[in-house]
Amino acid sequence: MNILFCGDVVGRSGRDILLQQLPRLKAELSLDFIIVNGENAAHGFGINKAICQDFFKAGIDVVTTGNHIWDQREVMSYIGSEPRLLRPANYPDGAPGRGHALYQDQRGRKVLVINVMGRLFMESLDDPFKVVDHILKPYPLGSAVQAIFIDIHAEATSEKMALGHFCDGRVSCVVGTHSHIPTADAQILPKGTAYQTDAGMCGDYNSVIGMDKVVPVHRFTRKTPTERMIPALGDGTVCGVFVQTDDHTGLALRIEPVRIGARLINTIPCLGEELPVGTAEGTS
Ligand SMILES: [Fe+2]
Ligand SMILES: [Fe+2]
Repeated sequence: MNILFCGDVVGRSGRDILLQQLPRLKAELSLDFIIVNGENAAHGFGINKAICQDFFKAGIDVVTTGNHIWDQREVMSYIGSEPRLLRPANYPDGAPGRGHALYQDQRGRKVLVINVMGRLFMESLDDPFKVVDHILKPYPLGSAVQAIFIDIHAEATSEKMALGHFCDGRVSCVVGTHSHIPTADAQILPKGTAYQTDAGMCGDYNSVIGMDKVVPVHRFTRKTPTERMIPALGDGTVCGVFVQTDDHTGLALRIEPVRIGARLINTIPCLGEELPVGTAEGTS
């Protein structure tokens, strides 16, 4: 199965570039399933029904989120009626919506998507490791489901990497979000789970993590109250990962970064050829 996951969509720049590039990505990568983190899609803060509907119309199968999930209050009532919109699974009992769900691609293959949030330097939610462990129990990879994808929305690279190893061999892919900066560590872990610490964002990289530079720089340099941050409005870049999984085992066959747009070095996987990967013999 060919899966595309794109990191946090930030404001109009992020939405525009994502919707503009999706048809090309679908065609070139023969995509079967598309997951996007939309936690900053509505002017940088949260997501709403109209944006979700645009995403679903464009062929996005599931929208994950993170700490900004509740920024747009209408989401509190909308999320309960829209199973394709996830919030982190480790919010306490009673939070509206769901943190994981089972979906199907066009060919009827089952995909379990889990959204979970880290706790280091973030709000203290329930233990994400315990929650993921509990969710995975009824879904043995390769028999009950053909693919399992986890979006770990977290600040600390260590926490994301630990979750990757914790799930290695039990899920198809663990990818991090929240930092808005893509990391260069796409790899298949020893037991077959694809992993990248952060997918990066879909947004304007001439910014401070997607926000217009003036206010954040002011905050860092003067430590005085400022205006509210607004998203940067320049041309965006789509950042994410492309993952190919084996339908029989559910494990990953390849993972490669995707970066297309105005900034960053662009890279798009070529289905005919794979990127060279370091080996114990081949690296020094
Ligand atoms: Fe974000
Ligand atoms: Fe976040």
